[in-house]
Amino acid sequence: MPASHRIRRPRIYRPTATNLARLAAALRRGAIVGVPSETVYGLAADALSPEACARIFEAKGRPTTDPLIVHIASASDLDRVAIADERAWRLARACWPGPLTLVLPKRPAVPDLVTAGKNTVAVRVPAHPQFRRLIRLSGRPLAAPSANPFGYISPTTAAHVRDSLVGTSLKAVLDGGECAVGVESTIVDLSRPQGRPRLLRPGGLPVEEIERILREPVSRPGNVRVAAGTAAPAPGMLARHYSPRTPLKLYSRIDAATIAALPSGDAALLLRRPRDVKEFAGRVRWLSESGQLKAIARNLFAMLRALDTAGWRCIHAEMPSGSDGLALAIRDRLTRAAARR
Ligand code: TXA
Ligand code: MG
Repeated sequence: MPASHRIRRPRIYRPTATNLARLAAALRRGAIVGVPSETVYGLAADALSPEACARIFEAKGRPTTDPLIVHIASASDLDRVAIADERAWRLARACWPGPLTLVLPKRPAVPDLVTAGKNTVAVRVPAHPQFRRLIRLSGRPLAAPSANPFGYISPTTAAHVRDSLVGTSLKAVLDGGECAVGVESTIVDLSRPQGRPRLLRPGGLPVEEIERILREPVSRPGNVRVAAGTAAPAPGMLARHYSPRTPLKLYSRIDAATIAALPSGDAALLLRRPRDVKEFAGRVRWLSESGQLKAIARNLFAMLRALDTAGWRCIHAEMPSGSDGLALAIRDRLTRAAARR
Protein backbone atom coordinates (compact mmCIF):
# COMPACT_ATOMS: atom_id res chain seq x y z
CA MET A 1 0.00 0.00 0.00
CA PRO A 2 1.41 3.46 -0.84
CA ALA A 3 2.46 5.43 2.25
CA SER A 4 -0.10 8.16 1.57
CA HIS A 5 -2.95 5.63 1.87
CA ARG A 6 -1.76 4.15 5.12
CA ILE A 7 -3.72 5.13 8.22
CA ARG A 8 -1.62 7.54 10.27
CA ARG A 9 -0.64 6.10 13.60
CA PRO A 10 0.98 8.44 16.13
CA ARG A 11 4.48 7.45 17.28
CA ILE A 12 5.44 7.19 20.94
CA TYR A 13 8.67 8.98 21.95
CA ARG A 14 10.70 8.18 25.04
CA PRO A 15 11.55 11.31 27.07
CA THR A 16 15.20 11.61 26.00
CA ALA A 17 16.82 15.05 25.60
CA THR A 18 16.88 14.60 21.80
CA ASN A 19 13.21 13.64 21.64
CA LEU A 20 12.15 16.50 23.92
CA ALA A 21 14.01 18.96 21.68
CA ARG A 22 12.41 17.44 18.60
CA LEU A 23 8.89 17.61 20.05
CA ALA A 24 9.42 21.18 21.27
CA ALA A 25 10.44 22.14 17.72
CA ALA A 26 7.29 20.48 16.37
CA LEU A 27 5.18 22.49 18.84
CA ARG A 28 6.88 25.71 17.74
CA ARG A 29 5.97 24.86 14.15
CA GLY A 30 2.31 24.53 15.15
CA ALA A 31 1.98 20.74 15.50
CA ILE A 32 -0.06 18.97 18.18
CA VAL A 33 1.78 16.60 20.54
CA GLY A 34 0.46 14.08 23.09
CA VAL A 35 1.93 14.92 26.51
CA PRO A 36 2.07 13.20 29.90
CA SER A 37 0.79 14.95 33.00
CA GLU A 38 0.25 13.81 36.58
CA THR A 39 -3.53 13.82 36.00
CA VAL A 40 -4.24 12.46 32.49
CA TYR A 41 -2.45 12.71 29.12
CA GLY A 42 -3.01 15.96 27.24
CA LEU A 43 -3.13 16.95 23.58
CA ALA A 44 -0.87 19.99 23.49
CA ALA A 45 -0.37 22.90 21.08
CA ASP A 46 1.07 26.41 21.19
CA ALA A 47 -1.54 28.25 23.27
CA LEU A 48 -0.76 31.56 21.57
CA SER A 49 -1.41 30.23 18.05
CA PRO A 50 -5.05 29.87 16.93
CA GLU A 51 -3.92 27.77 13.95
CA ALA A 52 -2.12 25.29 16.20
CA CYS A 53 -5.03 25.15 18.69
CA ALA A 54 -7.51 24.55 15.87
CA ARG A 55 -5.70 21.22 15.28
CA ILE A 56 -6.54 20.17 18.86
CA PHE A 57 -10.27 20.72 18.31
CA GLU A 58 -10.12 18.93 14.98
CA ALA A 59 -8.23 15.88 16.27
CA LYS A 60 -10.56 15.50 19.28
CA GLY A 61 -13.77 16.30 17.43
CA ARG A 62 -14.34 18.83 20.19
CA PRO A 63 -16.80 21.71 19.78
CA THR A 64 -15.10 25.11 19.85
CA THR A 65 -17.57 26.22 22.55
CA ASP A 66 -15.52 24.15 25.05
CA PRO A 67 -12.43 26.17 26.13
CA LEU A 68 -8.93 24.74 26.71
CA ILE A 69 -6.63 24.77 29.75
CA VAL A 70 -3.37 26.69 29.28
CA HIS A 71 -0.31 24.99 30.82
CA ILE A 72 2.68 27.03 31.98
CA ALA A 73 6.05 25.81 33.26
CA SER A 74 6.04 27.86 36.45
CA ALA A 75 3.78 30.21 38.40
CA SER A 76 6.11 33.05 37.44
CA ASP A 77 4.66 32.82 33.90
CA LEU A 78 1.09 33.34 35.13
CA ASP A 79 1.15 37.08 34.35
CA ARG A 80 1.72 36.34 30.67
CA VAL A 81 -1.69 34.73 30.24
CA ALA A 82 -3.92 35.80 33.16
CA ILE A 83 -4.58 38.51 35.70
CA ALA A 84 -4.02 37.03 39.14
CA ASP A 85 -5.20 38.58 42.41
CA GLU A 86 -4.09 37.81 45.96
CA ARG A 87 -6.28 34.68 46.24
CA ALA A 88 -4.98 33.28 42.95
CA TRP A 89 -1.37 33.80 44.02
CA ARG A 90 -1.99 32.12 47.34
CA LEU A 91 -3.33 28.99 45.60
CA ALA A 92 -0.63 29.10 42.93
CA ARG A 93 2.12 29.24 45.54
CA ALA A 94 0.62 26.46 47.64
CA CYS A 95 -0.59 24.03 44.95
CA TRP A 96 1.58 24.39 41.83
CA PRO A 97 2.98 22.34 40.28
CA GLY A 98 -0.08 20.15 40.79
CA PRO A 99 -3.61 19.13 39.80
CA LEU A 100 -5.28 22.53 40.24
CA THR A 101 -6.57 24.73 37.40
CA LEU A 102 -7.47 28.36 38.08
CA VAL A 103 -10.00 30.26 35.97
CA LEU A 104 -8.92 33.92 35.91
CA PRO A 105 -9.45 37.05 33.79
CA LYS A 106 -7.38 36.58 30.63
CA ARG A 107 -4.64 38.63 28.99
CA PRO A 108 -5.18 39.75 25.38
CA ALA A 109 -2.33 37.47 24.19
CA VAL A 110 -4.55 34.41 24.70
CA PRO A 111 -6.53 33.74 21.49
CA ASP A 112 -10.34 33.60 21.56
CA LEU A 113 -10.27 30.02 20.29
CA VAL A 114 -8.51 28.90 23.50
CA THR A 115 -11.08 30.54 25.79
CA ALA A 116 -14.15 29.98 23.59
CA GLY A 117 -14.51 33.74 23.35
CA LYS A 118 -14.76 34.18 27.13
CA ASN A 119 -12.87 36.91 28.97
CA THR A 120 -11.43 34.27 31.34
CA VAL A 121 -8.69 31.69 30.88
CA ALA A 122 -8.07 28.38 32.67
CA VAL A 123 -4.40 27.96 33.72
CA ARG A 124 -2.28 25.39 35.51
CA VAL A 125 1.32 24.29 36.17
CA PRO A 126 1.44 20.50 35.69
CA ALA A 127 3.48 18.40 38.13
CA HIS A 128 4.94 16.05 35.50
CA PRO A 129 8.60 17.13 35.06
CA GLN A 130 8.79 16.09 31.38
CA PHE A 131 5.70 18.09 30.51
CA ARG A 132 7.16 21.18 32.20
CA ARG A 133 10.45 20.55 30.41
CA LEU A 134 8.61 20.48 27.09
CA ILE A 135 6.79 23.74 27.89
CA ARG A 136 10.14 25.40 28.70
CA LEU A 137 11.83 24.06 25.57
CA SER A 138 8.95 25.14 23.34
CA GLY A 139 9.15 28.63 24.80
CA ARG A 140 5.38 29.16 24.93
CA PRO A 141 2.42 28.22 27.09
CA LEU A 142 0.77 25.02 25.86
CA ALA A 143 -2.98 24.59 25.56
CA ALA A 144 -3.97 21.00 26.30
CA PRO A 145 -7.27 19.24 26.84
CA SER A 146 -7.27 15.57 27.76
CA ALA A 147 -6.02 13.56 24.76
CA ASN A 148 -9.17 11.55 24.06
CA PRO A 149 -11.78 11.79 21.31
CA PHE A 150 -14.47 14.17 22.59
CA GLY A 151 -16.68 12.49 25.19
CA TYR A 152 -14.59 9.31 25.53
CA ILE A 153 -12.59 8.07 28.54
CA SER A 154 -9.49 10.18 29.32
CA PRO A 155 -6.09 8.57 28.60
CA THR A 156 -3.64 7.68 31.39
CA THR A 157 -0.90 6.08 29.25
CA ALA A 158 0.88 7.05 26.02
CA ALA A 159 -0.58 3.95 24.34
CA HIS A 160 -4.13 5.11 25.18
CA VAL A 161 -3.41 8.37 23.33
CA ARG A 162 -1.89 6.66 20.30
CA ASP A 163 -4.68 4.09 20.03
CA SER A 164 -7.61 6.48 20.28
CA LEU A 165 -6.31 9.24 17.98
CA VAL A 166 -5.28 7.11 14.99
CA GLY A 167 -6.06 8.84 11.68
CA THR A 168 -5.91 12.38 13.09
CA SER A 169 -3.11 14.93 12.52
CA LEU A 170 -1.41 13.75 15.75
CA LYS A 171 2.02 12.33 14.93
CA ALA A 172 3.83 12.19 18.26
CA VAL A 173 3.14 11.25 21.88
CA LEU A 174 5.69 11.84 24.63
CA ASP A 175 5.83 8.83 26.93
CA GLY A 176 5.94 9.87 30.57
CA GLY A 177 4.67 6.61 32.06
CA GLU A 178 1.34 6.02 33.77
CA CYS A 179 -0.37 9.07 35.22
CA ALA A 180 0.12 9.22 39.00
CA VAL A 181 -3.20 10.90 39.87
CA GLY A 182 -5.45 9.45 37.17
CA VAL A 183 -8.30 11.99 37.21
CA GLU A 184 -8.18 15.50 35.77
CA SER A 185 -7.25 18.64 37.67
CA THR A 186 -9.66 20.37 40.03
CA ILE A 187 -10.97 23.56 38.37
CA VAL A 188 -11.71 26.60 40.53
CA ASP A 189 -13.19 29.81 39.18
CA LEU A 190 -11.61 32.89 40.80
CA SER A 191 -12.49 35.25 37.98
CA ARG A 192 -14.84 37.45 40.04
CA PRO A 193 -12.55 39.24 42.51
CA GLN A 194 -15.30 39.93 45.06
CA GLY A 195 -17.24 36.71 44.48
CA ARG A 196 -16.93 33.41 46.25
CA PRO A 197 -14.54 30.91 44.59
CA ARG A 198 -16.50 28.33 42.61
CA LEU A 199 -15.68 24.70 42.00
CA LEU A 200 -16.22 24.03 38.28
CA ARG A 201 -14.87 20.47 38.27
CA PRO A 202 -13.80 18.28 41.20
CA GLY A 203 -10.45 16.61 40.48
CA GLY A 204 -7.08 15.48 41.74
CA LEU A 205 -6.79 18.17 44.41
CA PRO A 206 -9.50 17.84 47.10
CA VAL A 207 -11.65 20.96 47.39
CA GLU A 208 -11.26 20.89 51.20
CA GLU A 209 -7.56 21.51 50.66
CA ILE A 210 -8.35 24.61 48.58
CA GLU A 211 -10.70 25.90 51.28
CA ARG A 212 -8.01 25.37 53.88
CA ILE A 213 -5.51 27.41 51.86
CA LEU A 214 -7.96 30.19 51.01
CA ARG A 215 -9.53 30.18 54.47
CA GLU A 216 -12.96 30.57 52.89
CA PRO A 217 -15.64 28.25 51.51
CA VAL A 218 -15.64 27.25 47.84
CA SER A 219 -19.12 26.97 46.37
CA ARG A 220 -19.91 23.61 44.83
CA PRO A 221 -22.57 23.49 42.16
CA GLY A 222 -25.23 20.96 43.20
CA ASN A 223 -24.41 18.55 40.41
CA VAL A 224 -20.92 17.75 41.60
CA ARG A 225 -21.94 17.24 45.20
CA VAL A 226 -24.84 14.89 44.50
CA ALA A 227 -23.65 12.20 42.17
CA ALA A 228 -26.95 10.34 41.84
CA GLY A 229 -29.20 10.84 38.83
CA THR A 230 -28.71 13.35 36.05
CA ALA A 231 -26.11 16.05 36.48
CA ALA A 232 -26.78 19.64 35.45
CA PRO A 233 -23.68 20.67 33.48
CA ALA A 234 -21.24 23.13 35.05
CA PRO A 235 -19.85 25.70 32.56
CA GLY A 236 -18.22 23.89 29.68
CA MET A 237 -18.97 20.49 31.13
CA LEU A 238 -21.43 17.96 29.89
CA ALA A 239 -23.60 15.54 31.79
CA ARG A 240 -22.34 12.74 29.56
CA HIS A 241 -18.55 12.55 29.35
CA TYR A 242 -15.65 10.19 30.08
CA SER A 243 -17.93 7.48 28.66
CA PRO A 244 -17.25 3.92 27.61
CA ARG A 245 -19.31 2.65 24.67
CA THR A 246 -20.45 -0.27 26.81
CA PRO A 247 -23.44 0.64 29.03
CA LEU A 248 -22.38 1.42 32.59
CA LYS A 249 -24.60 0.99 35.66
CA LEU A 250 -23.70 2.38 39.07
CA TYR A 251 -24.21 0.88 42.51
CA SER A 252 -23.45 2.05 46.02
CA ARG A 253 -22.36 -1.51 46.77
CA ILE A 254 -21.96 -4.73 44.79
CA ASP A 255 -21.90 -7.91 46.87
CA ALA A 256 -21.52 -11.57 45.95
CA ALA A 257 -25.29 -11.98 45.54
CA THR A 258 -25.45 -9.04 43.09
CA ILE A 259 -22.65 -10.58 41.04
CA ALA A 260 -24.25 -14.02 41.04
CA ALA A 261 -27.46 -12.48 39.67
CA LEU A 262 -25.77 -10.65 36.74
CA PRO A 263 -26.38 -11.95 33.18
CA SER A 264 -23.39 -13.97 31.93
CA GLY A 265 -22.12 -11.33 29.46
CA ASP A 266 -21.91 -8.61 32.12
CA ALA A 267 -18.88 -7.54 34.18
CA ALA A 268 -18.62 -6.09 37.69
CA LEU A 269 -16.14 -3.39 38.68
CA LEU A 270 -15.54 -3.22 42.43
CA LEU A 271 -13.76 -0.61 44.51
CA ARG A 272 -11.71 -3.19 46.41
CA ARG A 273 -10.48 -6.76 45.90
CA PRO A 274 -13.20 -9.20 46.93
CA ARG A 275 -12.29 -11.92 49.41
CA ASP A 276 -13.76 -14.72 47.35
CA VAL A 277 -12.16 -13.85 43.99
CA LYS A 278 -12.10 -17.38 42.59
CA GLU A 279 -15.86 -17.73 42.67
CA PHE A 280 -16.39 -15.01 40.10
CA ALA A 281 -14.87 -16.65 37.03
CA GLY A 282 -13.12 -13.70 35.45
CA ARG A 283 -15.95 -11.20 35.21
CA VAL A 284 -15.06 -9.23 38.30
CA ARG A 285 -12.40 -6.49 38.34
CA TRP A 286 -11.37 -4.16 41.14
CA LEU A 287 -9.74 -0.73 41.40
CA SER A 288 -7.78 -1.11 44.64
CA GLU A 289 -6.69 -3.69 47.19
CA SER A 290 -8.64 -2.28 50.10
CA GLY A 291 -10.56 0.77 48.94
CA GLN A 292 -7.81 3.45 48.92
CA LEU A 293 -9.16 6.46 46.98
CA LYS A 294 -5.77 7.31 45.45
CA ALA A 295 -5.49 3.87 43.90
CA ILE A 296 -9.12 3.96 42.74
CA ALA A 297 -8.57 7.32 41.01
CA ARG A 298 -5.28 6.19 39.46
CA ASN A 299 -6.75 3.00 37.99
CA LEU A 300 -10.27 4.18 37.09
CA PHE A 301 -9.89 5.32 33.46
CA ALA A 302 -7.49 2.55 32.40
CA MET A 303 -9.85 -0.05 33.85
CA LEU A 304 -12.90 1.45 32.14
CA ARG A 305 -11.02 1.37 28.82
CA ALA A 306 -9.93 -2.23 29.32
CA LEU A 307 -13.48 -3.31 30.17
CA ASP A 308 -14.87 -1.28 27.27
CA THR A 309 -12.74 -3.13 24.70
CA ALA A 310 -13.32 -6.59 26.19
CA GLY A 311 -16.78 -7.11 24.68
CA TRP A 312 -18.93 -7.05 27.86
CA ARG A 313 -22.62 -6.26 27.39
CA CYS A 314 -22.80 -4.09 30.48
CA ILE A 315 -20.39 -2.91 33.19
CA HIS A 316 -21.79 -2.77 36.73
CA ALA A 317 -19.61 -0.46 38.83
CA GLU A 318 -19.44 0.47 42.50
CA MET A 319 -19.17 4.14 43.47
CA PRO A 320 -17.33 5.36 46.56
CA SER A 321 -19.65 6.69 49.24
CA GLY A 322 -19.22 10.18 50.64
CA SER A 323 -17.89 13.22 48.86
CA ASP A 324 -14.71 14.03 50.77
CA GLY A 325 -11.33 14.22 49.12
CA LEU A 326 -10.92 12.24 45.91
CA ALA A 327 -14.33 10.57 46.34
CA LEU A 328 -16.00 13.68 44.89
CA ALA A 329 -13.97 13.50 41.65
CA ILE A 330 -14.35 9.73 41.32
CA ARG A 331 -18.14 9.98 41.79
CA ASP A 332 -18.29 12.84 39.28
CA ARG A 333 -16.41 10.86 36.59
CA LEU A 334 -18.43 7.69 37.13
CA THR A 335 -21.72 9.59 37.10
CA ARG A 336 -20.89 11.34 33.82
CA ALA A 337 -19.55 8.11 32.31
CA ALA A 338 -22.87 6.41 33.09
CA ALA A 339 -25.15 9.25 31.92
CA ARG A 340 -27.43 8.30 29.05
CA ARG A 341 -26.82 9.49 25.51
O1 TXA B 1 -5.92 17.60 34.36
C1 TXA B 1 -6.32 18.32 33.46
O2 TXA B 1 -6.88 19.40 33.68
C2 TXA B 1 -6.05 17.85 32.03
C3 TXA B 1 -4.54 17.87 31.79
C4 TXA B 1 -4.17 17.55 30.37
O3 TXA B 1 -4.02 19.12 32.18
N1 TXA B 1 -6.75 18.67 31.09
C5 TXA B 1 -8.11 18.64 30.95
O4 TXA B 1 -8.61 19.44 29.94
O5 TXA B 1 -8.82 17.95 31.64
P1 TXA B 1 -10.08 19.29 29.35
O6 TXA B 1 -10.12 20.17 28.17
O7 TXA B 1 -10.40 17.87 29.11
O8 TXA B 1 -11.00 19.90 30.44
C6 TXA B 1 -10.89 21.27 30.69
C7 TXA B 1 -12.15 21.82 31.23
C8 TXA B 1 -13.26 21.86 30.20
O9 TXA B 1 -14.41 21.26 30.69
C9 TXA B 1 -13.48 23.34 29.98
O10 TXA B 1 -14.81 23.64 29.76
C10 TXA B 1 -12.96 23.97 31.27
O11 TXA B 1 -11.88 23.18 31.61
N2 TXA B 1 -12.51 25.34 31.02
C11 TXA B 1 -11.48 25.75 30.27
N3 TXA B 1 -11.40 27.09 30.21
C12 TXA B 1 -12.42 27.56 30.96
C13 TXA B 1 -12.88 28.87 31.29
N4 TXA B 1 -12.28 29.97 30.84
N5 TXA B 1 -13.97 28.96 32.09
C14 TXA B 1 -14.58 27.85 32.56
N6 TXA B 1 -14.19 26.58 32.27
C15 TXA B 1 -13.14 26.43 31.48
MG1 MG C 1 -11.38 16.09 28.96
